[in-house]
Amino acid sequence: MYELILFDDVDLPPATQVAFARNFGEVQIHVLSQYHGYKDHPEIYMLSNLDKDGNPSGKHPDKGTLFWHTDGSWRERTGQATMMYSEIVPEAGGETEFADMYSAYELLPQALKARIEGRRAIHNLDFSRTRRHGVDLLTAKQRAEVPPIAHPIVRTHPDTARKAIFLGDHAEWIEGMDYDEGRALIEEINAMITSPARVYTHSWTPRQCMVWDNRCTLHRATGFDEARYKRVMRRCTINGDQPF
Ligand SMILES: [Fe+2]
Repeated sequence: MYELILFDDVDLPPATQVAFARNFGEVQIHVLSQYHGYKDHPEIYMLSNLDKDGNPSGKHPDKGTLFWHTDGSWRERTGQATMMYSEIVPEAGGETEFADMYSAYELLPQALKARIEGRRAIHNLDFSRTRRHGVDLLTAKQRAEVPPIAHPIVRTHPDTARKAIFLGDHAEWIEGMDYDEGRALIEEINAMITSPARVYTHSWTPRQCMVWDNRCTLHRATGFDEARYKRVMRRCTINGDQPF
């Protein structure tokens, strides 16, 4: 079972993208409604740095994407697959990096495996959004819609039955562990499982569609000059199951 699939040079208008995504399951309507790209297609999460005149705004649309994470890990039913379509890509930067979480688990030192055995981490969008984006935070209503949720740190992929690490930037603390100790352990493992030697970097060209499995990978975007270049990406995330 592939972790990433790339479709090159495809025409994928928004309605077609949503219809395509529905083949994989129920498509998420993101709680951060300010990212909904189209009135008729709230399933599309728009990542664009363009201002209302279509010029680079100098602002990154979602700084949380710059840190290793897996989509929708803050939901009870986490992201199964994400489908990203590149409309406009910057001349430099704005890549997406991926790390495999099966081998991350297999390669984890035994002492660390023992520390996380049977443990659950609390994933919290409010935590990561506040920490990384710093502005345009969740409203009280949005916060109420996505309360913190516990997921096993080592999950079993429902289709392959293989074990994978399930952490990333939305993971805040560890159940039954001192808050600071859990925070430190999450940071330590997040760094270890995304070491540069284990990362695939995808440099986008326009009209590409990438589908990835959120259950066994982490990803992040690399930065770019938001005042100089345009970057417009359309995302659909398909809801999966509750990790076990
Ligand atoms: Fe993401």
